[in-house]
Amino acid sequence: MTNRLKLPKPQKDLDFPLMKAIEMRRTKRKWNDSCLSDQEISNVLWVACGITHEETKRSKSRRTAPSACNSQEIKVFIAMHKGLFLYDEKKHQLIKILSEDIRKDISTQKMMHSAPVGLIYVSDFTKMKTFLFKDDNRKWFTSTADTGFISQNVYLYCVAANLSTAIISLVDREKLHKIMGLADFEKVIYTQAIGKLDN
Ligand SMILES: Cc1cc2nc3c(=O)[nH]c(=O)nc-3n(C[C@H](O)[C@H](O)[C@H](O)COP(=O)(O)O)c2cc1C
Repeated sequence: MTNRLKLPKPQKDLDFPLMKAIEMRRTKRKWNDSCLSDQEISNVLWVACGITHEETKRSKSRRTAPSACNSQEIKVFIAMHKGLFLYDEKKHQLIKILSEDIRKDISTQKMMHSAPVGLIYVSDFTKMKTFLFKDDNRKWFTSTADTGFISQNVYLYCVAANLSTAIISLVDREKLHKIMGLADFEKVIYTQAIGKLDN
């Protein structure tokens, strides 16, 4: 199908010392115009919420990032010049959602509009089913925490791959929700800009 784009395998053997990556992690808001390569996109999305353990008859799959009760409620969308895509972690592929370039809507902060890639973290509230998630308030703070783990994975990969990244809370969530055509139970949590560093 043309609206599905298979990604190259993530480079799980990429060599970079973890302690160095943690020390060097920084929010960087400068990038050039070039988009990330397919390999970099594959790596970014896999570290964000790729599958590390397949589901079995007895247990649900596991992701690179933890989530409360293993709810896996955060979906990762990726906005690029060629459109908006949803990361399908089960098949490690992109599913095209829109052909339009919506990157200027990932933030109300002007400096983010030029980012070659914008990740959009969306929580699917229907996936939070246990007694812990009695009301929307609890679903919101759990989704915010779970997005933090995902975005930190992306931060650390960006250090190893010499990419700039910034997590963003300055987002017009209602506008973005509408543009993306999300359902009521889907909530925009944060976005994250990524680009290549000018050396
Ligand atoms: C939850 C959260 C939201 C943030 N939102 C924004 C934002 O909207 N715009 C921005 O430029 N930086 C944003 N940042 C980045 C912080 O400004 C940055 O982490 C802080 O200045 C410390 O810098 P460092 O990440 O390099 O340690 C955010 C950080 C966090 C944790």
